[in-house]
Amino acid sequence: MRADFDALAAIGATAAGGVDRRSLGSAHLEARGWFLERARSAGLETRVDPAGNHSAVFGADGPTLLLGSHLDSVPDGGRFDGALGVVSALHVLLAVQASGLELPVTLEAIDFTDEEGTLVGLLGSEALTGALTMEALRAPRGGRDALEAGLERAGLKEEELAAARRDPGSLAGYLELHIEQGPILERAHRQIGVVTSIVGARSFSLAFSGRAGHAGTTPMTERRDAGLAAAAFAVAVEEVVRRDFPSCVATVGDIRLEPGAFNVVPGVARLALEFRSSDLQELDSLEVALLARARAEVTRRRVALEIEPVGRWEPTSLDQEICDAIEAAADGLRLSSVRLHSGAGHDAQALAAITPAGMVFVPSVEGLSHDPGELTHWDDCVNGANVLLEAALALAAARA
Ligand code: GLV
Ligand code: MN
Ligand code: MN
Repeated sequence: MRADFDALAAIGATAAGGVDRRSLGSAHLEARGWFLERARSAGLETRVDPAGNHSAVFGADGPTLLLGSHLDSVPDGGRFDGALGVVSALHVLLAVQASGLELPVTLEAIDFTDEEGTLVGLLGSEALTGALTMEALRAPRGGRDALEAGLERAGLKEEELAAARRDPGSLAGYLELHIEQGPILERAHRQIGVVTSIVGARSFSLAFSGRAGHAGTTPMTERRDAGLAAAAFAVAVEEVVRRDFPSCVATVGDIRLEPGAFNVVPGVARLALEFRSSDLQELDSLEVALLARARAEVTRRRVALEIEPVGRWEPTSLDQEICDAIEAAADGLRLSSVRLHSGAGHDAQALAAITPAGMVFVPSVEGLSHDPGELTHWDDCVNGANVLLEAALALAAARA
């Protein structure tokens, strides 16, 4: 498993020690090709569905137990996010194949398309569950041009994505191993996290439009500076969340100024806003508060504002029985565990809508993730893979 993990980490490797495999870019497509080839060379069946989800299959009579995650990354991301889940899923299949065990389920290791949302977010997993909407495709997080270019590079057709939908009756469940991406396990000195629920998130593209002007001659009192509107809003986002929504998080992850020069007052500012909560009502209230705060800049700085929703994922509970199975698997391997909530989004939240879904977390050093310095000690990766294997065997046995 280590050799395979390292081979994948070399694809799209960055000088800082991470990977940059944006969804359906060349490094991502190369990683997906590597995965299929590795599975084929081990004698597993492979398949690619109409949403581009890549799978290795170890067939048997009976419904399919999906094991998966994603091989795409955020820009300048880490080696573990997603990749650990795909490599370990593949190695569960290889371990079962090598053992000669006959299971009452088909095992499928699946690499979902565009989990991270550089294009849409949970694109492949939502296509598989039937939750992918036309609206999400019309107004994607990464913009229409990037989506169209990515689909074309991957040989995918937008009008066929929904054909990836699976019959829930064909599935026995879904399991995903992932790094925690936060500090809880490390601080609690636990080896395994049993994920009970996954955060909800919403993202919006905001565009403030003012008037570009000469940076030397336009009096400070007469400016309609879109850049300042965006900057003031970004600072206010932190204030609003810390003061009124202390259990939520919100991020302005990108601000682009146009035309973007030393000597031009910014005429347009485009901003990426994302916020998350585990509570649906709180998400609604936070949305109202943040968008009202953005609108306040319209009068304050005499700018126009366009707001476009570009992503919406609901808070999700994972399956109780699967939580129990994961916990029992950890106990059986004498690994310490704790139940916890995920503040990161995952393909499991899509799968949970149609089949019992569960997740195993392993500790992230210093809780760092979405950063090239992301690290999980290899012993912890192996522990997680063993829990994934044991939990998969238990679920298979329960469905016999
Ligand atoms: C995915 O990693 C996300 O939570 O944004
Ligand atoms: Mn991930
Ligand atoms: Mn991620």
